[in-house]
Amino acid sequence: MGFNRDVATGRKPLLDGKIAVITGGGNGIGRVAVGMFIEAGALVVTSDIDAEALDQVKKEYGDAVTTVVADMGTIEGVRSVVATTQETHGRVDALYNNAGVGALAEGLLRVHETPYEIFEKTIQLNLWSVFAMSRETIPLMQGTGGSIINVASINAQVAIPGSVSYISAKGGVLSMTRSIAFDYAADGIRANVLVPGYIDTRMVSDYTNKAPDPAAAVKEVGDAHLLGRMGDPQEVAAAALWLASDASTFMTGSALTVDGGYLAK
Ligand SMILES: NC(=O)c1ccc[n+]([C@@H]2O[C@H](COP(=O)([O-])OP(=O)(O)OC[C@H]3O[C@@H](n4cnc5c(N)ncnc54)[C@H](O)[C@@H]3O)[C@@H](O)[C@H]2O)c1
Repeated sequence: MGFNRDVATGRKPLLDGKIAVITGGGNGIGRVAVGMFIEAGALVVTSDIDAEALDQVKKEYGDAVTTVVADMGTIEGVRSVVATTQETHGRVDALYNNAGVGALAEGLLRVHETPYEIFEKTIQLNLWSVFAMSRETIPLMQGTGGSIINVASINAQVAIPGSVSYISAKGGVLSMTRSIAFDYAADGIRANVLVPGYIDTRMVSDYTNKAPDPAAAVKEVGDAHLLGRMGDPQEVAAAALWLASDASTFMTGSALTVDGGYLAK
């Protein structure tokens, strides 16, 4: 629970012996995180709605990973992940609430054009599931402590057009993280939130591929960052890994920006 010099100096693997739950581990940032967490010494439980992708993850990592096909936007899905984790490991050291749907999944919709179902669906997965997974997992952290890592977005801080559902959900995740940190500090349970810029995953390519000139769209998205490019999934997963580890034990209630300088402009 406390600062671990051997971990911080690299004498011990960052996540040596830890049990980590990563939602949405079938593709994108979550998929990369599963591999990095395991390489850093963790045993991982991961969930996704994409059963095929989870089969690949299982093939690649064998006994180091437990996969659960589950919709994180439902209470049944959330409970099945937590129950499997409890049966398999009996405790959780790190919960990485990564699963989410993008701002542009349904196209650009201004407020008065946004169907209620899209708003609800986006809030359900991007915000409610963070609450529900935390609510159900915290009892498995009590006594030993743990680290909760949530995922917001630069779009929780600066708006983009036509994305009220995503922006509202990610803004909620920022505030919810501070609330979790407040409520469980005395239990040794930390909660922090990542604020990524645009990251090169399907979430972004689904959008750029639809543009009249996809290469120009990729360049335009990259140019919005001081570093002149999108981030790699590894660059976000590495920040999550550090927040999950005992090298970050004085971090709680914080937002860690991983945005290639997007917000600094
Ligand atoms: N890519 C970006 O530019 C970017 C920027 C900021 C924040 N984020 C956030 O990072 C997180 C990961 O995004 P990504 O870019 O890796 O996306 P991605 O689409 O590549 O991967 C998301 C994963 O979540 C899974 N998923 C979707 N709905 C699910 C559900 N109902 N239940 C369980 N799993 C489900 C998908 O099958 C997929 O495996 C998300 O919360 C996203 O909002 C991404």
